[in-house]
Amino acid sequence: MIQTLEWTEGGVRFVDQTKLPTEEVYVNCTTYQQVADVIRNMVVRGAPAIGVAAAMGIALGLKNSKAETVGELKREFDEICDVIGKTRPTAVNLFWAIRRMQEKFETARVRPVQQIRQTLIEEAQRMHAEDIAINRAMGQHGSALMPASGGVLTHCNAGALATAGYGTALGVIRAAIENGKKIHVYADETRPFLQGSRLTAWELMKDGIATTVISDNMSGAMMRQGKIGAVIVGADRIAANGDVANKIGTYTVAVLAKEHGIPFYVAAPISTIDLATPDGSKIPIEQRNRTEVTHIAGKLITPEGVGIENPAFDVTPAKYVTAIVTERGIARAPYHESLAALWSAEAQLTTTGSSRKQQL
Ligand code: MRU
Repeated sequence: MIQTLEWTEGGVRFVDQTKLPTEEVYVNCTTYQQVADVIRNMVVRGAPAIGVAAAMGIALGLKNSKAETVGELKREFDEICDVIGKTRPTAVNLFWAIRRMQEKFETARVRPVQQIRQTLIEEAQRMHAEDIAINRAMGQHGSALMPASGGVLTHCNAGALATAGYGTALGVIRAAIENGKKIHVYADETRPFLQGSRLTAWELMKDGIATTVISDNMSGAMMRQGKIGAVIVGADRIAANGDVANKIGTYTVAVLAKEHGIPFYVAAPISTIDLATPDGSKIPIEQRNRTEVTHIAGKLITPEGVGIENPAFDVTPAKYVTAIVTERGIARAPYHESLAALWSAEAQLTTTGSSRKQQL
């Protein structure tokens, strides 16, 4: 399996997603500031991978810290969390991961400084391992929703590269194929950063999964021609009412899917569900640099000085979402009830060690 990111004795190692698919090179970060930079510059990207990277960045910062008292360590810890928390605003997994590390710090702070460091390093590694297990569970739940055969459209990259491994939307597709379904993936190229044509196509081809890349403006025609049996995408943040923030262009795909009577599924871990955000209008949307639109592979493709918009994400209203696949099961409308039930199942899991999955 592709190692999107990895904790090593020498630092945190990332496959450089800005270079794929033409070069498979790795970036090794030895400071938390470098980890913040690779998140900001999208060397690592995708909500769950950003969350794990954040946790590893925090762990790395603590590992490097020269603090001798818990008070000193806590001051450095707060500064590290602050720097990492300012990298990308939309993927809620970033803030979920920081909060989880903060909670771990609080429970560990009665211990000696060196033990606190070790506890937080282990927590970051646990989050990495858990993310892969979560994606596999999500894959099994979502597999049943996939058509027995035919085309499935995806947008952006919600695969192994967007997670610690296996993927969310692509995890569902992988599981469906492992379960005997004959799926052909249509990958939107995903302007402007080209996550679909560069990353989704690369990782699916590596796995021998039949893949066709289409430019973003082709999906409607493909649906009309009957080539698409289902759509499945990932998410960066899901509001309490089921509105979904995901890569720019997802909304267009969802509206087209509804018009053509094609189910539109979202696959995301519980950590992407943000019950504190009531609806999609409250989700902060990251605006990225204009050069992502004006240039392709470093070459200017627009007139100099033209006006540019570059929102990295859009919001798909819940009414377009057929179902949301999580590691705890499948949520359907009304989402404010089904998502809250899935979320509290997690709370019960962490506090009592038992799962309410069967009751949902
Ligand atoms: O800007 P990116 O590449 O980080 O955006 C990624 C997406 O929009 C993904 O679809 C989302 O994070 C889900 S990844 C499992």
